[in-house]
Amino acid sequence: MTMFRSVVSGCGSYLPEKVITNKQMEDIVDTTDEWIIERTGIRQRHIAADDELTSDLAIKAAQRALEDAKISAKDIDLIVLATSTPDQTFPSTATRVQAALGMETGAAFDVQAVCSGFIYALATADNFIRAGQAKNALVIGAETFSRILDWEDRTTCVLFGDGAGAIVLSAEVGEGTNQDRGVLSSHLHSDGRYNDMLYVDGGVSSTKSTGYLRMKGKEVFRHAVVNLANVVKEALSFNNFTADDVNMVIPHQANKRILDATIRKLKISPEKVAVTVQKHANTSAASIPLALDEVVKANRIARGDIVVLEAMGGGFTWGACLIRW
Ligand code: ACO
Repeated sequence: MTMFRSVVSGCGSYLPEKVITNKQMEDIVDTTDEWIIERTGIRQRHIAADDELTSDLAIKAAQRALEDAKISAKDIDLIVLATSTPDQTFPSTATRVQAALGMETGAAFDVQAVCSGFIYALATADNFIRAGQAKNALVIGAETFSRILDWEDRTTCVLFGDGAGAIVLSAEVGEGTNQDRGVLSSHLHSDGRYNDMLYVDGGVSSTKSTGYLRMKGKEVFRHAVVNLANVVKEALSFNNFTADDVNMVIPHQANKRILDATIRKLKISPEKVAVTVQKHANTSAASIPLALDEVVKANRIARGDIVVLEAMGGGFTWGACLIRW
């Protein structure tokens, strides 16, 4: 039975120029380069300039993805942008990107699932394409987490960075089997009982302020490894694959120890895993498309490869997408 599949036809990313190394973090909070590397694998993070907004990062990543896909913004009929750090409470950051790209038609909206945002955005766009409601979709993850960090809290401010990544999804007709190219399936989960494990202590309706990120690091770590391994297994088994069929895993880049523990649980070899956390830190919804762009540009993914994307974040939310490249 034929069906529409969402094939990744281009990708791009953008990182702000300013870099803060762990050594420089030592001047900001009571920490050390050694502590940060040992506990997280992070060596540096990019930080947006004062006048650089989430939409600015998203626009640059989107333009690069469009160039890579060799299509014009006029051919895009859907923008789904994942962010927890929007320019404004409303309108959506996606509509700012839409205007900057010169688009006057199509639909644009934001999704908010914190670090799982890109997986949620990709699943949403894929469903529009499957339903025949979009032909070419831009899926973007863009964040300026530096704006919601408490720069006096060493337990959180060393972990995050700013950046953006984007992909173009294009509709192609497939046979409805696991041999098709494109997004084969996506699997989304959330459990709101864990709201207070990872949250921002402010908001429009509660405090009328932005607030700062707060986290119970140890609990998040524990849940992350279990949930991520389970959702990847769910995606593989849904498509009748095993871990041996996987060519590349693009995990959300939260912490090298989470990446390693998850991969060990799945029995996937470390060479098949994209790791950028050392350079970018945790860029929340931007981390997967940033890492994806890096491995694609390094020719580490070939046509026909099975690529797994997985993420977990505040909520808790978590999910995975399985793509045949
Ligand atoms: N520099 C130096 N010391 C520090 C720092 C720091 N930046 N931060 C905390 N410490 C201290 C603590 O105060 C504590 O000191 P104490 O023993 O005197 O009380 C000690 O280091 C150990 O602290 P723990 O919190 O037990 O350290 P842990 O080994 O759990 O590592 C970390 C902390 C890195 C946050 C870890 O729990 C973790 O990675 N959790 C996952 C959180 C995460 O990645 N969240 C991202 C968002 S969710 C997601 O994307 C999956």
